[in-house]
Amino acid sequence: MEILYNIITATVISGSLSIILVVAEYFFANYGDCKITVNDKKELVVKGGGNLLNALAENKIFIPSACGGRGSCGFCKVKALDGAGPVLPTEKPYLSAKELNNNVRLSCQIKVRQDIKIEIPEELFNIKKFKAKVIEVIDYTYDIKGITFQLLDPDTVDFKAGQYMQLETPKYEKSKQVISRAYSISSIPDNKNALQFIIRRVPDGLCTTWVHDYLKMGDIVNLVGPFGDFYIRDTDTDIIYVAGGSGKAPIKSMVEHAAKYQNPRKMTYFFGARAMKDLYLTEEFQEYEKTMPDFTYVPVLSSPDPEDDWKGKTGFIPPYFKDYIRDPLKTEAYLCGSPGMIAAVEKELTKLGVPNDKIYFDSF
Ligand SMILES: Cc1cc2nc3c(=O)[nH]c(=O)nc-3n(C[C@H](O)[C@H](O)[C@H](O)COP(=O)(O)OP(=O)(O)OC[C@H]3O[C@@H](n4cnc5c(N)ncnc54)[C@H](O)[C@@H]3O)c2cc1C
Ligand code: FES
Repeated sequence: MEILYNIITATVISGSLSIILVVAEYFFANYGDCKITVNDKKELVVKGGGNLLNALAENKIFIPSACGGRGSCGFCKVKALDGAGPVLPTEKPYLSAKELNNNVRLSCQIKVRQDIKIEIPEELFNIKKFKAKVIEVIDYTYDIKGITFQLLDPDTVDFKAGQYMQLETPKYEKSKQVISRAYSISSIPDNKNALQFIIRRVPDGLCTTWVHDYLKMGDIVNLVGPFGDFYIRDTDTDIIYVAGGSGKAPIKSMVEHAAKYQNPRKMTYFFGARAMKDLYLTEEFQEYEKTMPDFTYVPVLSSPDPEDDWKGKTGFIPPYFKDYIRDPLKTEAYLCGSPGMIAAVEKELTKLGVPNDKIYFDSF
């Protein structure tokens, strides 16, 4: 009883102290102007107190961020050379020992309290923020929509099939803040003025609830990007794609682009879904089997409903790999889906002999 009392007392005291510190910082801390030096060539003067990710974005330097700064994606890495303070416990799960040694940090977790010196990849200077208007909304399934945005300002973007943008949704009744989330572009790079995204509803998800229940034709949003290194490598190996649900978005862009340019590589796309109600764009992908030099579409249902009368492949996808992989050493794999799915598929592909450095993925 006494131990329990001591634990509760300690928890209440430390909780109260944390709240006092946060409140004191909010009302009384004044860090004045701070200088952020980027790659030894750009100097930004910002008002201290905010986080580094936002301070950079306000100065049109956009660091990748899939979670909008919540510290839950690990995408917003920068090399902090000076002035970033100690590494926080919230950063450690996302940083390898090598990254910690090299002063790599999560920019959304660094508070700008003094002058800071950082290094970022040069290509991030090319990332832009676009104003865009909703011009098409398609219901692909009961929980997946295809949304097309026309770019207004700037009005064109260059990207590679498979890359993603960050969608900023406005404040609305379920979110008092602007929300930013990553979405893969599902249209092809040739169309530089209009971008399509395929967005699956996440129950109670802040961004997807807005997209599914509030977004309407003509709405204006901000898109930031393009980001990511999930794109087809320029080689002549065979290709295996594995992606279900909204993971089809980047693969759609890759396959449509390959179809347009009649890419001769042997490509096989395994689309995993639960039941027939989760299948979409099936006819379009079956059409590519006829029009592309060497493309095969393999939908696999894990638990079809009785009324589906499904005669196709069922169960898990990996047991089917051996029927389609000709030479594992000459195969690249592009995977998109949940971290669990990616880990399981990667393990099976490696067992079959596909080299680990030829397996590329985006996990979400
Ligand atoms: C590189 C990249 C590309 C992406 N591309 C796409 C895409 O093309 N299409 C697409 O639909 N999504 C994509 N995502 C996922 C997307 O960024 C959001 O994470 C997702 O839409 C949920 O956002 P939300 O604001 O609605 O949910 P949140 O408000 O962020 O989350 C609400 C709750 O749901 C949980 N949650 C979050 N995501 C999922 C999930 N996927 N399944 C189950 N529970 C979840 C959270 O833990 C939280 O508890 C991508 C993510 C990354 C990193
Ligand atoms: S933006 Fe997601 S962890 Fe920093």
